[in-house]
Amino acid sequence: MASTYLITGGCGFIGSNFILRLLRQRQDANVINLDKLTYAGNQDNLRDIAGDPRYRFVQGDITDAALVGELMEGADRVVNFAAETHVDRSLMEPGAFIQTDVYGTYVLLEAARQARVERFLHMSTDEVYGDVPEGQTSRETDALNPRSPYAASKAGAEMQCRAYIETYGLPVVIARPANNVGPRQHVEKLVPLFTTNALRDEPLPVYGDGRQQRDWLFVEDNCEALDLILHEGEPGEVYNVGAGNHLYNIDVAHLILDLTEKPRSLITHVEDRAGHDRRYAVNSDKLRALGWAPRHDATAGIQKAVEWYLQNRWWWEKVRDESFQEYYDKQYGKRLAEAKPDHRE
Ligand code: NAD
Ligand code: TYD
Repeated sequence: MASTYLITGGCGFIGSNFILRLLRQRQDANVINLDKLTYAGNQDNLRDIAGDPRYRFVQGDITDAALVGELMEGADRVVNFAAETHVDRSLMEPGAFIQTDVYGTYVLLEAARQARVERFLHMSTDEVYGDVPEGQTSRETDALNPRSPYAASKAGAEMQCRAYIETYGLPVVIARPANNVGPRQHVEKLVPLFTTNALRDEPLPVYGDGRQQRDWLFVEDNCEALDLILHEGEPGEVYNVGAGNHLYNIDVAHLILDLTEKPRSLITHVEDRAGHDRRYAVNSDKLRALGWAPRHDATAGIQKAVEWYLQNRWWWEKVRDESFQEYYDKQYGKRLAEAKPDHRE
Protein backbone atom coordinates (compact mmCIF):
# COMPACT_ATOMS: atom_id res chain seq x y z
CA MET A 1 0.00 0.00 0.00
CA ALA A 2 1.22 3.51 -0.83
CA SER A 3 2.61 5.62 2.00
CA THR A 4 2.62 9.40 2.22
CA TYR A 5 5.66 11.07 3.77
CA LEU A 6 5.37 14.67 4.96
CA ILE A 7 8.92 15.93 4.74
CA THR A 8 9.83 19.38 6.02
CA GLY A 9 12.86 21.34 4.84
CA GLY A 10 13.18 19.12 1.76
CA CYS A 11 14.71 21.89 -0.36
CA GLY A 12 17.78 22.01 1.86
CA PHE A 13 20.92 19.90 1.77
CA ILE A 14 20.06 16.68 3.60
CA GLY A 15 16.32 16.90 2.94
CA SER A 16 16.81 17.01 -0.84
CA ASN A 17 19.24 14.09 -0.78
CA PHE A 18 16.79 12.16 1.40
CA ILE A 19 13.78 12.80 -0.87
CA LEU A 20 15.67 11.82 -4.03
CA ARG A 21 16.78 8.59 -2.38
CA LEU A 22 13.36 7.79 -0.92
CA LEU A 23 11.58 8.15 -4.27
CA ARG A 24 14.30 6.10 -5.95
CA GLN A 25 14.23 3.30 -3.40
CA ARG A 26 10.55 3.05 -2.43
CA GLN A 27 8.14 2.81 -5.33
CA ASP A 28 5.17 3.04 -2.91
CA ALA A 29 6.28 6.39 -1.47
CA ASN A 30 4.49 9.69 -2.05
CA VAL A 31 6.19 12.82 -0.77
CA ILE A 32 4.80 16.16 0.37
CA ASN A 33 7.68 18.59 0.84
CA LEU A 34 6.87 21.56 3.10
CA ASP A 35 9.62 24.15 2.84
CA LYS A 36 9.65 27.88 3.56
CA LEU A 37 12.45 28.50 1.05
CA THR A 38 14.61 30.52 3.38
CA TYR A 39 18.04 31.58 2.08
CA ALA A 40 19.05 27.89 2.59
CA GLY A 41 16.15 26.39 0.62
CA ASN A 42 16.84 25.85 -3.06
CA GLN A 43 14.39 24.50 -5.62
CA ASP A 44 17.27 23.63 -7.93
CA ASN A 45 17.99 20.82 -5.47
CA LEU A 46 14.85 18.94 -6.52
CA ARG A 47 14.45 20.06 -10.11
CA ASP A 48 14.94 16.46 -11.31
CA ILE A 49 11.68 15.36 -9.69
CA ALA A 50 9.61 18.53 -10.29
CA GLY A 51 7.27 16.67 -12.64
CA ASP A 52 7.08 13.39 -10.68
CA PRO A 53 3.41 12.62 -9.82
CA ARG A 54 4.56 11.12 -6.49
CA TYR A 55 6.07 14.46 -5.43
CA ARG A 56 4.26 17.59 -4.23
CA PHE A 57 5.92 20.81 -3.12
CA VAL A 58 4.23 23.21 -0.72
CA GLN A 59 5.93 26.48 0.11
CA GLY A 60 5.16 27.29 3.74
CA ASP A 61 6.38 27.62 7.28
CA ILE A 62 6.41 24.79 9.85
CA THR A 63 5.27 27.33 12.47
CA ASP A 64 1.98 27.81 10.52
CA ALA A 65 -0.30 25.52 12.55
CA ALA A 66 -3.26 25.72 10.14
CA LEU A 67 -1.19 24.72 7.11
CA VAL A 68 0.71 22.02 9.03
CA GLY A 69 -2.59 20.60 10.39
CA GLU A 70 -4.02 20.38 6.88
CA LEU A 71 -0.96 18.66 5.40
CA MET A 72 -0.63 16.29 8.34
CA GLU A 73 -4.13 14.86 7.69
CA GLY A 74 -2.82 13.10 4.58
CA ALA A 75 0.48 11.90 6.07
CA ASP A 76 1.46 8.44 7.32
CA ARG A 77 5.03 9.38 8.28
CA VAL A 78 6.76 12.67 9.03
CA VAL A 79 10.43 13.57 8.65
CA ASN A 80 11.42 16.93 10.11
CA PHE A 81 14.50 18.45 8.50
CA ALA A 82 13.29 22.07 8.54
CA ALA A 83 15.55 24.20 10.69
CA GLU A 84 17.87 27.14 10.84
CA THR A 85 21.15 25.24 10.70
CA HIS A 86 24.25 27.40 10.63
CA VAL A 87 26.12 27.87 13.93
CA ASP A 88 27.78 31.12 12.79
CA ARG A 89 24.41 32.64 11.87
CA SER A 90 23.01 31.53 15.25
CA LEU A 91 25.69 33.65 16.93
CA MET A 92 24.41 36.69 15.04
CA GLU A 93 20.62 36.08 15.17
CA PRO A 94 19.51 33.38 17.62
CA GLY A 95 15.81 34.35 17.51
CA ALA A 96 15.06 32.66 14.18
CA PHE A 97 16.56 29.43 15.55
CA ILE A 98 14.24 29.34 18.54
CA GLN A 99 11.26 30.16 16.35
CA THR A 100 11.79 27.48 13.68
CA ASP A 101 13.80 24.80 15.47
CA VAL A 102 11.95 24.80 18.80
CA TYR A 103 8.51 26.31 18.19
CA GLY A 104 8.24 24.83 14.68
CA THR A 105 8.99 21.35 16.01
CA TYR A 106 6.26 21.77 18.63
CA VAL A 107 3.73 22.76 15.91
CA LEU A 108 4.62 19.63 13.93
CA LEU A 109 4.43 17.35 16.98
CA GLU A 110 1.03 18.68 18.00
CA ALA A 111 -0.38 18.24 14.49
CA ALA A 112 1.13 14.74 14.29
CA ARG A 113 -0.57 13.84 17.57
CA GLN A 114 -3.96 15.05 16.31
CA ALA A 115 -3.54 13.18 13.03
CA ARG A 116 -2.21 10.00 14.74
CA VAL A 117 0.68 9.54 12.33
CA GLU A 118 2.47 6.19 12.20
CA ARG A 119 5.99 7.54 12.72
CA PHE A 120 7.73 10.90 13.22
CA LEU A 121 11.46 11.13 12.55
CA HIS A 122 13.05 14.19 14.07
CA MET A 123 16.45 15.39 12.89
CA SER A 124 18.58 16.42 15.79
CA THR A 125 22.39 16.70 15.74
CA ASP A 126 25.50 15.46 17.51
CA GLU A 127 26.05 19.10 18.53
CA VAL A 128 23.50 18.69 21.37
CA TYR A 129 26.22 16.85 23.36
CA GLY A 130 28.54 19.85 23.25
CA ASP A 131 32.31 19.61 23.21
CA VAL A 132 33.65 16.02 23.52
CA PRO A 133 37.16 15.52 24.95
CA GLU A 134 39.74 13.58 22.93
CA GLY A 135 39.43 9.83 23.54
CA GLN A 136 35.73 9.98 24.43
CA THR A 137 32.53 9.43 22.44
CA SER A 138 28.95 10.46 23.22
CA ARG A 139 26.31 7.82 23.79
CA GLU A 140 22.58 8.36 23.37
CA THR A 141 22.09 8.21 27.14
CA ASP A 142 24.63 10.99 27.86
CA ALA A 143 23.45 14.32 29.20
CA LEU A 144 22.91 17.07 26.63
CA ASN A 145 25.26 20.03 26.95
CA PRO A 146 24.59 22.34 23.99
CA ARG A 147 26.90 25.34 23.81
CA SER A 148 25.84 27.39 20.77
CA PRO A 149 22.44 29.00 20.17
CA TYR A 150 22.01 26.55 17.26
CA ALA A 151 22.78 23.51 19.42
CA ALA A 152 20.57 24.83 22.23
CA SER A 153 17.65 25.26 19.84
CA LYS A 154 18.14 21.69 18.57
CA ALA A 155 18.27 20.40 22.15
CA GLY A 156 15.09 22.37 22.92
CA ALA A 157 13.37 20.71 19.96
CA GLU A 158 14.43 17.30 21.23
CA MET A 159 12.96 18.05 24.63
CA GLN A 160 9.62 18.80 22.94
CA CYS A 161 9.89 15.43 21.17
CA ARG A 162 10.64 13.73 24.47
CA ALA A 163 7.57 15.33 26.06
CA TYR A 164 5.31 14.10 23.23
CA ILE A 165 6.79 10.60 23.49
CA GLU A 166 6.34 10.35 27.24
CA THR A 167 3.05 12.23 27.60
CA TYR A 168 1.12 11.23 24.51
CA GLY A 169 2.93 8.11 23.34
CA LEU A 170 3.66 9.77 19.97
CA PRO A 171 5.86 7.35 17.97
CA VAL A 172 8.81 9.72 17.52
CA VAL A 173 12.32 8.53 16.65
CA ILE A 174 15.25 10.92 16.95
CA ALA A 175 18.47 10.94 14.91
CA ARG A 176 21.64 12.74 16.01
CA PRO A 177 23.88 12.82 12.92
CA ALA A 178 27.44 14.09 12.68
CA ASN A 179 28.64 16.74 10.17
CA ASN A 180 27.32 15.81 6.75
CA VAL A 181 29.24 16.41 3.55
CA GLY A 182 28.14 15.97 -0.05
CA PRO A 183 26.30 17.42 -3.05
CA ARG A 184 23.98 20.44 -2.64
CA GLN A 185 25.23 21.64 0.76
CA HIS A 186 24.87 25.41 1.15
CA VAL A 187 28.11 27.31 0.53
CA GLU A 188 28.13 28.79 4.05
CA LYS A 189 29.34 25.45 5.52
CA LEU A 190 33.01 24.46 5.78
CA VAL A 191 33.55 22.09 2.84
CA PRO A 192 31.51 24.00 0.21
CA LEU A 193 32.86 27.36 1.40
CA PHE A 194 36.47 26.27 1.24
CA THR A 195 35.97 24.47 -2.08
CA THR A 196 34.28 27.41 -3.79
CA ASN A 197 36.69 29.93 -2.25
CA ALA A 198 39.59 27.84 -3.55
CA LEU A 199 38.03 27.72 -7.03
CA ARG A 200 37.72 31.53 -6.88
CA ASP A 201 41.34 31.85 -5.64
CA GLU A 202 40.08 33.44 -2.41
CA PRO A 203 41.44 32.82 1.10
CA LEU A 204 40.17 29.88 3.17
CA PRO A 205 39.26 31.34 6.59
CA VAL A 206 40.31 28.71 9.15
CA TYR A 207 38.95 29.52 12.62
CA GLY A 208 41.64 29.71 15.29
CA ASP A 209 44.32 27.04 15.10
CA GLY A 210 42.24 24.73 12.87
CA ARG A 211 42.79 21.85 15.27
CA GLN A 212 39.05 21.34 15.85
CA GLN A 213 37.74 17.92 14.89
CA ARG A 214 34.58 16.88 13.12
CA ASP A 215 33.32 13.44 12.05
CA TRP A 216 32.65 13.74 8.29
CA LEU A 217 29.61 11.68 7.33
CA PHE A 218 28.82 11.37 3.63
CA VAL A 219 25.23 12.54 3.10
CA GLU A 220 24.20 9.33 1.26
CA ASP A 221 25.40 7.27 4.22
CA ASN A 222 23.39 9.51 6.52
CA CYS A 223 20.27 9.20 4.34
CA GLU A 224 20.59 5.41 4.42
CA ALA A 225 20.77 5.58 8.22
CA LEU A 226 17.78 7.93 8.42
CA ASP A 227 15.69 5.62 6.23
CA LEU A 228 16.57 2.72 8.51
CA ILE A 229 15.77 4.67 11.69
CA LEU A 230 12.46 5.84 10.22
CA HIS A 231 11.33 2.36 9.19
CA GLU A 232 13.08 0.03 11.67
CA GLY A 233 13.90 2.24 14.67
CA GLU A 234 12.15 1.71 18.01
CA PRO A 235 9.55 4.40 18.74
CA GLY A 236 10.77 6.73 21.48
CA GLU A 237 14.44 5.92 20.86
CA VAL A 238 17.39 8.15 19.94
CA TYR A 239 20.07 7.06 17.42
CA ASN A 240 23.49 8.61 16.96
CA VAL A 241 24.71 8.65 13.34
CA GLY A 242 28.47 8.91 13.07
CA ALA A 243 30.99 7.32 10.73
CA GLY A 244 34.07 7.72 12.93
CA ASN A 245 35.63 9.79 10.10
CA HIS A 246 37.47 12.30 12.26
CA LEU A 247 39.63 14.97 10.66
CA TYR A 248 41.06 18.25 11.93
CA ASN A 249 39.68 21.27 10.09
CA ILE A 250 43.15 22.21 8.94
CA ASP A 251 43.53 18.78 7.31
CA VAL A 252 40.17 19.25 5.58
CA ALA A 253 41.51 22.55 4.20
CA HIS A 254 44.67 20.81 2.95
CA LEU A 255 42.65 18.05 1.31
CA ILE A 256 40.41 20.56 -0.48
CA LEU A 257 43.41 22.54 -1.74
CA ASP A 258 45.02 19.36 -3.04
CA LEU A 259 41.81 18.25 -4.77
CA THR A 260 41.31 21.67 -6.39
CA GLU A 261 45.05 21.99 -7.17
CA LYS A 262 45.34 25.31 -5.34
CA PRO A 263 48.23 26.52 -3.16
CA ARG A 264 48.41 26.13 0.63
CA SER A 265 49.05 29.88 0.85
CA LEU A 266 45.29 30.39 0.52
CA ILE A 267 44.92 29.15 4.11
CA THR A 268 44.28 32.11 6.40
CA HIS A 269 43.88 31.67 10.13
CA VAL A 270 41.21 34.07 11.38
CA GLU A 271 39.68 34.94 14.74
CA ASP A 272 38.01 31.86 16.23
CA ARG A 273 34.25 31.28 16.47
CA ALA A 274 32.90 32.31 19.90
CA GLY A 275 32.29 29.26 22.12
CA HIS A 276 33.68 26.98 19.40
CA ASP A 277 33.24 23.27 20.23
CA ARG A 278 36.59 21.65 19.51
CA ARG A 279 35.40 18.14 18.97
CA TYR A 280 32.27 16.10 18.27
CA ALA A 281 32.37 12.32 18.39
CA VAL A 282 29.46 9.90 18.75
CA ASN A 283 29.23 6.21 19.43
CA SER A 284 26.91 4.67 16.78
CA ASP A 285 26.75 1.08 18.08
CA LYS A 286 22.99 1.30 18.59
CA LEU A 287 22.42 2.21 14.93
CA ARG A 288 24.99 -0.32 13.71
CA ALA A 289 23.03 -3.01 15.60
CA LEU A 290 20.11 -2.21 13.25
CA GLY A 291 22.40 -3.13 10.34
CA TRP A 292 23.87 0.23 9.24
CA ALA A 293 27.47 0.86 8.28
CA PRO A 294 28.91 3.88 6.43
CA ARG A 295 30.20 3.26 2.91
CA HIS A 296 32.58 6.25 2.77
CA ASP A 297 35.58 7.23 4.85
CA ALA A 298 36.32 10.93 5.41
CA THR A 299 38.57 11.35 2.38
CA ALA A 300 36.18 9.56 0.00
CA GLY A 301 33.20 11.62 1.21
CA ILE A 302 34.99 14.95 0.96
CA GLN A 303 36.43 14.00 -2.44
CA LYS A 304 32.96 13.18 -3.81
CA ALA A 305 31.65 16.47 -2.45
CA VAL A 306 34.49 18.52 -3.95
CA GLU A 307 34.03 16.78 -7.31
CA TRP A 308 30.35 17.70 -7.25
CA TYR A 309 31.16 21.39 -6.72
CA LEU A 310 33.74 21.21 -9.51
CA GLN A 311 31.10 19.80 -11.86
CA ASN A 312 28.21 22.02 -10.75
CA ARG A 313 29.56 25.52 -10.86
CA TRP A 314 26.16 26.79 -12.13
CA TRP A 315 24.58 25.63 -8.85
CA TRP A 316 26.93 27.34 -6.43
CA GLU A 317 27.49 30.48 -8.47
CA LYS A 318 23.73 31.11 -8.15
CA VAL A 319 23.87 30.48 -4.39
CA ARG A 320 26.83 32.82 -3.91
CA ASP A 321 24.62 35.78 -4.77
CA GLU A 322 24.53 39.34 -3.46
CA SER A 323 22.82 38.44 -0.20
CA PHE A 324 25.39 35.71 0.45
CA GLN A 325 28.16 38.21 -0.21
CA GLU A 326 26.54 40.55 2.33
CA TYR A 327 26.54 37.75 4.90
CA TYR A 328 30.12 36.84 3.97
CA ASP A 329 31.35 40.40 4.44
CA LYS A 330 29.66 40.61 7.84
CA GLN A 331 30.99 37.24 8.98
CA TYR A 332 34.51 37.38 7.53
CA GLY A 333 35.34 40.92 6.38
CA LYS A 334 36.96 42.20 9.57
CA ARG A 335 38.46 38.83 10.46
CA LEU A 336 40.16 38.47 7.09
CA ALA A 337 41.38 42.06 7.12
CA GLU A 338 43.04 41.45 10.50
CA ALA A 339 44.47 38.02 9.64
CA LYS A 340 47.71 37.00 8.08
CA PRO A 341 47.94 34.21 5.51
CA ASP A 342 49.60 31.14 6.89
CA HIS A 343 52.74 30.11 5.06
CA ARG A 344 53.94 27.74 7.76
CA GLU A 345 52.72 24.60 6.05
P1 NAD B 1 19.75 23.30 5.36
O1 NAD B 1 20.04 24.59 6.06
O2 NAD B 1 20.51 22.96 4.12
O3 NAD B 1 18.21 23.26 4.97
C1 NAD B 1 17.18 23.65 5.83
C2 NAD B 1 15.88 23.69 5.04
O4 NAD B 1 14.81 24.02 5.94
C3 NAD B 1 15.86 24.75 3.93
O5 NAD B 1 15.35 24.20 2.75
C4 NAD B 1 14.94 25.83 4.48
O6 NAD B 1 14.28 26.56 3.48
C5 NAD B 1 13.99 25.02 5.34
N1 NAD B 1 13.38 25.81 6.42
C6 NAD B 1 14.01 26.63 7.30
N2 NAD B 1 13.10 27.19 8.13
C7 NAD B 1 11.88 26.69 7.78
C8 NAD B 1 10.57 26.87 8.28
N3 NAD B 1 10.33 27.70 9.31
N4 NAD B 1 9.57 26.19 7.71
C9 NAD B 1 9.80 25.37 6.65
N5 NAD B 1 11.02 25.17 6.12
C10 NAD B 1 12.06 25.82 6.69
O7 NAD B 1 19.89 22.18 6.45
P2 NAD B 1 20.55 20.72 6.38
O8 NAD B 1 22.00 20.85 6.50
O9 NAD B 1 19.95 19.98 5.24
O10 NAD B 1 20.03 20.09 7.74
C11 NAD B 1 18.75 19.43 7.80
C12 NAD B 1 18.46 19.01 9.24
O11 NAD B 1 19.48 18.13 9.71
C13 NAD B 1 18.42 20.17 10.23
O12 NAD B 1 17.40 19.90 11.16
C14 NAD B 1 19.79 20.15 10.87
O13 NAD B 1 19.73 20.70 12.18
C15 NAD B 1 20.07 18.66 10.89
N6 NAD B 1 21.49 18.29 10.87
C16 NAD B 1 22.31 18.75 9.87
C17 NAD B 1 23.64 18.35 9.84
C18 NAD B 1 24.58 18.80 8.75
O14 NAD B 1 25.78 18.48 8.80
N7 NAD B 1 24.12 19.52 7.73
C19 NAD B 1 24.14 17.47 10.82
C20 NAD B 1 23.27 17.02 11.83
C21 NAD B 1 21.95 17.43 11.83
P1 TYD C 1 30.48 24.11 9.91
O1 TYD C 1 30.48 23.58 8.51
O2 TYD C 1 29.91 25.47 10.15
O3 TYD C 1 29.73 23.02 10.81
P2 TYD C 1 29.55 22.95 12.43
O4 TYD C 1 30.02 24.22 13.03
O5 TYD C 1 28.08 22.77 12.55
O6 TYD C 1 30.36 21.77 12.87
O7 TYD C 1 31.96 24.10 10.48
C1 TYD C 1 32.72 22.92 10.55
C2 TYD C 1 34.02 23.24 11.28
O8 TYD C 1 34.77 24.15 10.46
C3 TYD C 1 33.82 23.96 12.60
O9 TYD C 1 34.84 23.51 13.51
C4 TYD C 1 34.03 25.42 12.27
C5 TYD C 1 35.05 25.37 11.15
N1 TYD C 1 34.95 26.47 10.15
C6 TYD C 1 36.09 27.25 9.85
O10 TYD C 1 37.19 27.03 10.40
N2 TYD C 1 35.96 28.25 8.95
C7 TYD C 1 34.78 28.54 8.33
O11 TYD C 1 34.71 29.49 7.52
C8 TYD C 1 33.63 27.71 8.62
C9 TYD C 1 32.30 27.96 7.96
C10 TYD C 1 33.77 26.69 9.54
